[in-house]
Amino acid sequence: MSDKVVLTGIKPTGIPHLGNYVGALKPLIEMSQTHRTFVFIADLHALNTIHNPDEISANTYAAAAVLVAAGLNLKNAVLFRQSDITPVYELATLLMNVTPKGLMNRAHSYKAMMDKNTANGLDIDAGVNMGLYTYPILMAADILLYKSDIVPVGADQKQHVEFARDIAGYFNNLYGNVFRLPEPVIGRDTGLIPGLDGRKMSKSYDNTISLFAPEGELKKKIMRIITDSKTPEEVKDPDTSTIFQLYTHFASAAEIDEFRQMFLAGGMGYGTAKNRLFDKINSVLSGPRAEYERLMANRGELDDILSDGAARARAVADDTIARVKRAMLGH
Ligand code: TRP
Repeated sequence: MSDKVVLTGIKPTGIPHLGNYVGALKPLIEMSQTHRTFVFIADLHALNTIHNPDEISANTYAAAAVLVAAGLNLKNAVLFRQSDITPVYELATLLMNVTPKGLMNRAHSYKAMMDKNTANGLDIDAGVNMGLYTYPILMAADILLYKSDIVPVGADQKQHVEFARDIAGYFNNLYGNVFRLPEPVIGRDTGLIPGLDGRKMSKSYDNTISLFAPEGELKKKIMRIITDSKTPEEVKDPDTSTIFQLYTHFASAAEIDEFRQMFLAGGMGYGTAKNRLFDKINSVLSGPRAEYERLMANRGELDDILSDGAARARAVADDTIARVKRAMLGH
């Protein structure tokens, strides 16, 4: 067991696709086998864009069920709802006072909004609420509250983790060594996981396979993977094949090697290769898929997991917020 604390937040945006699973969820679940891990559903971070409580609530349950069904180790991992822990709102307010406004102006996500507004001839701050503008401060509060060392995130979130580190540094300079300095760990680039058309798997390309697609849909999607037009007899290149690339993320080393040889030997049609890919993914995911469906039909069980996680998270959060208040307010 490592003595480093891992933390990450997952926005409640529905069931992930295979690219999200391979790039982010699977590595996180592996880390939870060996590290004390805080994983929360970042429902407060959804508020700047989603103004429908039913949507946030349903997506929060779905995100929690995905993590549990996919094998998060609940002995080492504390799974909770971000909004259940009151000290995070407190810490975000307190951190405002050591965070330069200029740092927020430089946030990629805010800059992207300003650029879009400028391109559309709108006021630069059109559609920007303070939830979006101060998003990195709330994220710093998440990261610092639970004394995290390692923060696994996608490349798009790296700057936010660096901001958390900067904010911790400003705070410690003024008030003494209260915060641990976190490190971002960038997950495998999901660009490596191809979608049905061979481009990176992404919602914006409409080429995804949902992690828990029912068997029939999974099969249909896999049969739609675009290939070149080689005949069954011809030798095929595994390294440029979407079928082979997807296979490598689900099969054992021996199985991957065997499949590679089948591509190189010729005599295997793409239909056969797709069937083999389907059988593999389906056998790996059918257990987790059934568990996901069971949990979604048993909300009470998810509530118990989330309230147990909240109690464990609160113990750490209460300690941090007491130290911060003492340092800043003298009581
Ligand atoms: N902002 C992250 C995202 O959009 C989610 C998140 C919220 C997060 N708080 C966090 C990630 C703290 C890591 C650490 O994906």
